[in-house]
Amino acid sequence: MGSVDYPKGKRLVGKVALITGAARGMGASFARAMVAQGGSVIVGDVLDEQGLAVEAELGDATVYVHLDVTSRSDWQHAVDVALARFGKLNILVNNAGILATGSVAEFPPDEWDRVIAVNLTGAFNGIQATLPALKASTPASIINISSTAGLKGYGGLVGYTASKFGLRGLTKAVALDLGDSGVRCNSIHPGAVITPMTDGIDMAQSHVAMKRPGHPHELAHLAVFLASDESSYCTGAEFVADGGEMAGLATLTVSS
Ligand SMILES: NC(=O)c1ccc[n+]([C@@H]2O[C@H](COP(=O)([O-])OP(=O)(O)OC[C@H]3O[C@@H](n4cnc5c(N)ncnc54)[C@H](O)[C@@H]3O)[C@@H](O)[C@H]2O)c1
Repeated sequence: MGSVDYPKGKRLVGKVALITGAARGMGASFARAMVAQGGSVIVGDVLDEQGLAVEAELGDATVYVHLDVTSRSDWQHAVDVALARFGKLNILVNNAGILATGSVAEFPPDEWDRVIAVNLTGAFNGIQATLPALKASTPASIINISSTAGLKGYGGLVGYTASKFGLRGLTKAVALDLGDSGVRCNSIHPGAVITPMTDGIDMAQSHVAMKRPGHPHELAHLAVFLASDESSYCTGAEFVADGGEMAGLATLTVSS
């Protein structure tokens, strides 16, 4: 992933972003893309070794913090680090997420609680914890990483799908609450993307228009747009990057 060329520019000069789940996968890609555009990034995750490696790769523009999104004290610490190190916070990316498979009849209640706690309550915790700092550094942007599973149902993904629909709804309520405060809030809905989360999952995508999975940097460019002031009139909206998955079924099997 480090070999991907992230366009260098000035689109995020003067901006400070806190990205959760940024030690690997899409979150690390968002960090790389934002630093390439002149931004500073607080890399939050529970994977300390990998998070510190991202910090070492990206240098002075980043700092790693141990941030379990289910812990409100971890959130406060992350905001304190952002303000101490960079003096402000303009961007929050609620990217941390976990996948748990299982259909409704046998899905364990403790798995349900865990998925909702990380994927949905974690984002709520983050918005509450960062809001004073975001409001003090407008224009500011909250980006919630939902999924196509926040737009349509998937069999065998009961908790995940519910959490991602919830995150989409949270996005709209927050956008309305924050109104003209200068803090915007939008959701990104990736289709199947090659990351550690999708290791071992069939990524053929023959049912999707583009017939291939996405790569993290293809989502990172979208995140840079929403983080920057280029998206100044966007709030409460859904941004889909899914190779055409939501357009409908690309293949129709007809038996003759
Ligand atoms: N990969 C896909 O196909 C896909 C598709 C749609 C949406 N998404 C979403 O994109 C986001 C990023 O996923 P990814 O594919 O890069 O997966 P990933 O597993 O590579 O990254 C997720 C990161 O979140 C971190 N994390 C997990 N629990 C945490 C917690 N309690 N606190 C803080 N960090 C925590 C993990 O350590 C990991 O670094 C997730 O929200 C995921 O649901 C992924």
